Amino acid sequence: MKHPETPWWKQAVIYQIYPRSFCDSNGDGIGDLPGILSKLDYLQTLGIDAIWLSPVFRSPQDDNGYDISDYQDIDPIFGTLEDMDALIREAGKRGIRIIMDLVLNHSSDEHRWFKEARKSRDNPYHDFYIWRDGDGVTPPNDLKAGFGGSAWEWVPELGQYYFHQFSVKQPDLNWDNPALRAELYRMINWWTDRGVGGFRLDVVDHLGKDPDHGLMKCAPTLHPYIREMSRAAFQRPGLVTVGEAWSADVEEAKRYSNPDGSELSMVFQFEHMKIDQIPGKEKWERAPIDFVTLKKIFSRWQKELYGQGWNSLFWENHDLPRSVSRFADDGTYRVESAKMLAILLHGMQGTPYVYQGEELGMTNYDFRVGECRDIEILNMARERRAQGYSEEWIRDAIRRKGRDNARTPMQWDASPNAGFTTGEPWLVVNPNYREINAEDQVGRDDSVFACYQTLIRLRKELPVLTDGTYEPLLEEDARIFAYRRDDGKNRLLVVCNFFGESVENPLCGEEKGGRLLVSSYTEAGTDPDLLRPYEAKMLLFG
Ligand code: GLC
Ligand code: CA
Repeated sequence: MKHPETPWWKQAVIYQIYPRSFCDSNGDGIGDLPGILSKLDYLQTLGIDAIWLSPVFRSPQDDNGYDISDYQDIDPIFGTLEDMDALIREAGKRGIRIIMDLVLNHSSDEHRWFKEARKSRDNPYHDFYIWRDGDGVTPPNDLKAGFGGSAWEWVPELGQYYFHQFSVKQPDLNWDNPALRAELYRMINWWTDRGVGGFRLDVVDHLGKDPDHGLMKCAPTLHPYIREMSRAAFQRPGLVTVGEAWSADVEEAKRYSNPDGSELSMVFQFEHMKIDQIPGKEKWERAPIDFVTLKKIFSRWQKELYGQGWNSLFWENHDLPRSVSRFADDGTYRVESAKMLAILLHGMQGTPYVYQGEELGMTNYDFRVGECRDIEILNMARERRAQGYSEEWIRDAIRRKGRDNARTPMQWDASPNAGFTTGEPWLVVNPNYREINAEDQVGRDDSVFACYQTLIRLRKELPVLTDGTYEPLLEEDARIFAYRRDDGKNRLLVVCNFFGESVENPLCGEEKGGRLLVSSYTEAGTDPDLLRPYEAKMLLFG
């Protein structure tokens, strides 16, 4: 068999932009495409290869753009199609590809298709959505929507319910209808022809479903649909595709990211993100982080996917709290621990993702409920209040898990509103922007930004990062995360103290003869047998 060349995205680092919170060019308080354009040099300095752009399509913004009313237009709050073309072009000049966010599980209820669909049962678009007859009193079954309430919404004019897994304004598309699928594939190709470099597929595991049998996702139709879509739209030179799949285990991941290219390039799975969640309960319920289990999760994915699929590496995205607040220390050791998380992750096999502000060590913000804007938080607060939960409990849940933590505006500099906008920002700016901002960090050797720069550069320089095997070390150790990579030519050793106290380093003998590539501390320690709080190092041998 002929060995295909390594695709670009196996050696790439992808940067996620949440456009609303990145950079506002016109003072309306909402980030936009011209704002992103003005920051391309910053991204080039960081060294990333591609931008995953959260949705900028036309949308009523019920779920900040994850409710699309026109897949082939840009929402006026973000700019125009011409702005999008300019972004693709200007990013391209800097070697940066644009990955768009395809929300194909549902559209907005304000999409033309849905407006048609609800006109009558025999409208040609009616079957683009999922309808069940009923009486307006008892929904077809007990399925619950992701953002609260029943998954079925009554439409009296039709005497039918429609199915929605997320908000009422996000009706599920009926993937069992071939005409709908053909429309979506046509739309995807239209974007690729415009110069887009790839796609992130929102909740891809939900595309195949069987609500009558209680299946919101992963129905037997799922993989056939993905393979059909791949043949129709994804198998084009250089195109990268990444599927968001909360439900994926290793076996499922091998299907999504089958190296034969029949489905997607890679999977974006969340097993390590469920570590502080109680299985079967909502994410708001607190569970302590079991460090040894966390290590085992990473090791299992590294080993079992090797040669059989491709994973994404991430700590953050727009749905998750800030990693330095969640897994490390956003106080005294913020800088060291943010670097530790970066080194730990970027030494592994897969495609690393950096979520805007992560490269600065941005932190969670202590929201008052009234300051939150996220539909998920607001619905949770309403439901929990009705169930008698205290305000303190609700606020604590938001502080730990709320999606708005990741969505506070990007901290560019120490000027008012962190240089994000000259107007009133749509969501509060974290007041720590005076200390934590890009202007302070770019060009400074000891910054979190510089650490990310180094890691991104190494990914391109060292094939062992892309191809090497993974061997976990000190698996049962309660404080240290360590592993070895090996590609036959080079060996890499990564050693991280995951906690805030110094700890004896059982691997200091192993480190002899290695070249230190990157560390979470700028100065060498006085005691070589000790790892300082959150000390992390990556060493190269051979
Ligand atoms: C995905 C998105 C999230 C969105 C949801 C519904 O999980 O990442 O932001 O709310 O899908 O589209
Ligand atoms: Ca704006």
